[in-house]
Amino acid sequence: MIDLRSDTLTQPTRAMRDAIANAAVGDEQKREDPTVNELERRGAEFLGHEEAVFLPTATMANQIALNILGRPGDALLVEQHAHIMLSELGGPAAHSGLLTIGLPGTNGRFSPEQVVAEIRDRNSVHVAPTRVVTIENTHNSSGGRVWPLAEVDAMVATCREHDLAVHLDGARLVNAATATGVDSARIGGGFDTVTLCFSKALGCPLGALIAGSSGLMTRARRGKHFFGGAMRQAGIVAAAALYALDHHVDRLAEDHARARRLGEALAAAGVPVDLEQVETNFVQIEVGPDRSGAIARLKDRGVLVSTTVHPTVVRAVTHLDISDADIDSAIDVIPAALKTLAAA
Ligand SMILES: Cc1ncc(COP(=O)(O)O)c(C=O)c1O
Repeated sequence: MIDLRSDTLTQPTRAMRDAIANAAVGDEQKREDPTVNELERRGAEFLGHEEAVFLPTATMANQIALNILGRPGDALLVEQHAHIMLSELGGPAAHSGLLTIGLPGTNGRFSPEQVVAEIRDRNSVHVAPTRVVTIENTHNSSGGRVWPLAEVDAMVATCREHDLAVHLDGARLVNAATATGVDSARIGGGFDTVTLCFSKALGCPLGALIAGSSGLMTRARRGKHFFGGAMRQAGIVAAAALYALDHHVDRLAEDHARARRLGEALAAAGVPVDLEQVETNFVQIEVGPDRSGAIARLKDRGVLVSTTVHPTVVRAVTHLDISDADIDSAIDVIPAALKTLAAA
């Protein structure tokens, strides 16, 4: 099977498993795990912040960020198809008492003007004050789309000007950095808090970071325990993340090139792929109303793809476990399978 469903599916490599096996560990709740401490030090630098906190998942990182940036009754602005909006079980309301407002986006992005239009009178006795803004870069449900640096900077500047806290869901920040040629630290450094996920393109079995100022990270560490995420000998997984920072960052350009090659070949074969959307490691394919039929036909021919929030679109995602030969096969198989569907 050529498994293009998600970049979360990667298996740790032999070398990563060796790093895991050899990790020095300690009690990380007591800050005595040398591997976690090293990851937090390097991670803070990598994300352009004073301090970082190691967490099991990016969902937890997002939820802790929102918990420390907002107060119950505050309004949170996110793009309407953001992971925080659609895939975190209403966590901002449940954990932090936030009213989440989904803004319409274009390719996962929204503008400073949209934010300003949603700022409410903080002295009002009726409306929830807008206090936190989150952007997602790259933006998952729009197809791994990237925020240009100028738009990131404009958003952060607007939030500063209007006294709004601003969080970056950078679960795939390294893909954005690779696509734009701008360091993750430069992209992430202006935000109050940043999430980075290790179990997506970076190829780790699990793990995420939240980064920010020392003051905010002191609160994030309390949030980590509060959310049940404080661990013990977590160096066993932090070792994988350190390995990924050393060995899996530069290789992301290969994933992007493979996605591009797949997208271009499919488009050339008449498969409806909008190449403008292929900016990172996602290829979005329009398959029409019988999407489950399309997914089943592709599976019969050995290619796995997944659904997206758009009901007629499937997605093929390149990652560490997808080779050039896999892309060659996918290029052969996908047009034939989808033509069968059109003929059916
Ligand atoms: C943009 C984005 N943020 C956060 C997450 C959550 O990651 P995790 O599965 O580590 O909780 C995901 C997972 O797909 C994601 O795509």
